[in-house]
Amino acid sequence: MIRLLSLSGSLRSASSNTHALFAAAMLVPHGVVVETYGEIGKLPHFNPDLEGTLPESIIDLRARVGQADGLLISCPEYARGIPGSFKNMLDWLVGSTDFPGKPVALLNTSPRASAAQAALKLVLETMSATLIPGACVTLDLLGKQTDPVAIVNDPVGSETLRQALRAIIDPILAQQAETLRAR
Ligand SMILES: Cc1cc2nc3c(=O)[nH]c(=O)nc-3n(C[C@H](O)[C@H](O)[C@H](O)COP(=O)(O)O)c2cc1C
Repeated sequence: MIRLLSLSGSLRSASSNTHALFAAAMLVPHGVVVETYGEIGKLPHFNPDLEGTLPESIIDLRARVGQADGLLISCPEYARGIPGSFKNMLDWLVGSTDFPGKPVALLNTSPRASAAQAALKLVLETMSATLIPGACVTLDLLGKQTDPVAIVNDPVGSETLRQALRAIIDPILAQQAETLRAR
């Protein structure tokens, strides 16, 4: 079984990024489970002084990242950058021993949001995530109906998501098979 953790960079209830992640969760093949992390808006502001006595919410965040075989991230662009709440979560994960090497699929719901996407890649690479090139895809949801079912029913959008999912799932499956063989 493969466990993917989905993380949306938007706190908006009708977020296109959250809906793209829900659509991806509807498209995963049998044997893959997508868990949604919905606590980003409740995390405390990052403070290195708290690394010694971590808040419960951060222990939980790091544990959920640690239990995941890969991360699905979709994040909007605010003022040509990463939204503060999402960067805050990433800052808390810099000190996580489970984050380095974690396979990441990076979705983008707007072709205009190139600066945030570039900044996210730089930050995630700096944190030693394994960005999967074939799983870093852009959907064009600008000005479109963005409920998850509409995304799934759109042939272009759903094929883009399927490609991204295959790109992140295949190496995880290969790694799991290798681990089993080595036993
Ligand atoms: C405060 C704010 C700043 C924004 N800045 C940008 C920007 O710099 N570039 C851009 O392409 N879109 C920008 N947008 C538009 C959002 O990225 C867009 O509405 C996106 O769909 C929001 O994601 P969501 O639907 O997941 O909430 C901004 C929106 C807000 C609210």
